[in-house]
Amino acid sequence: MLLKEKTIVVTGGNSGIGEAIVLAAAAEGANVVIDYVAHPEETASLIERIESAGGHAVGIQADVSKSDDLHAMVQKAVDTFGRLDVLVNNAGIETRHSLLETGEEEFEKVMAVNMKSAFFGSQAAAKQFIAQGDGGLILNISSVHEDWPMPGNIAYCVSKGGMRMLTRTAGVELGGHGIRMVNIAPGAVSTPINASTEADPEKMKALNASIPLGRMAEADEIADVVVFLASGKAAYMTSTTVVVDGGIMQGSVGL
Ligand code: BGC
Repeated sequence: MLLKEKTIVVTGGNSGIGEAIVLAAAAEGANVVIDYVAHPEETASLIERIESAGGHAVGIQADVSKSDDLHAMVQKAVDTFGRLDVLVNNAGIETRHSLLETGEEEFEKVMAVNMKSAFFGSQAAAKQFIAQGDGGLILNISSVHEDWPMPGNIAYCVSKGGMRMLTRTAGVELGGHGIRMVNIAPGAVSTPINASTEADPEKMKALNASIPLGRMAEADEIADVVVFLASGKAAYMTSTTVVVDGGIMQGSVGL
């Protein structure tokens, strides 16, 4: 088991990529803290699944856009499992509006859930890691759109671009404490965030045609990369991004 004895906190852990990370980490022996904002029943059923397979998990309802809630989340890991080893800043939303369409409140919400959460979550985790004295790992589930425009989804792109620079800068700041920080940039993944695309056969055809591997990723394929990065087999990686996109960013129609 690659994550035995490690305690991992996953924000937005009861759906989509977060849920896949929770299950993959638990299967590798990690103690898992599942952060969520809605659908406590989903969290309860995940915990039941994990515990019936002999694993350990606990839930916490915490709003990642609030710094106090992020501290409570880290504290939950320490109170329940004695320490924190890995924070996965996974929670995210998108609104699919252009610059001309995006309202102020909408912009602030996207930034708060996607980027401010990663900023203050990382701060809370880093303080805990420093108190423990033996390093730690922060993983951000970013997106190919940390670097690559998605016209019509601009607030999301801006938030992910911020996450990109957060990782590069904080990774440098925290390296001396043995704390590593890495972004994972998925391409298109079959999760609730892409429900409207998946419901539209024309959009799916165009999307699949633009992906060199010809299909969306399954959430498990992102979770596997999280396990690798958290496993101790990636000990020299920090302040950078691992792209997991089926080649979508490099796709060319060749015309
Ligand atoms: C976005 C999706 C988009 C995908 C590929 C993801 O980060 O959430 O809406 O389909 O990137 O462009």
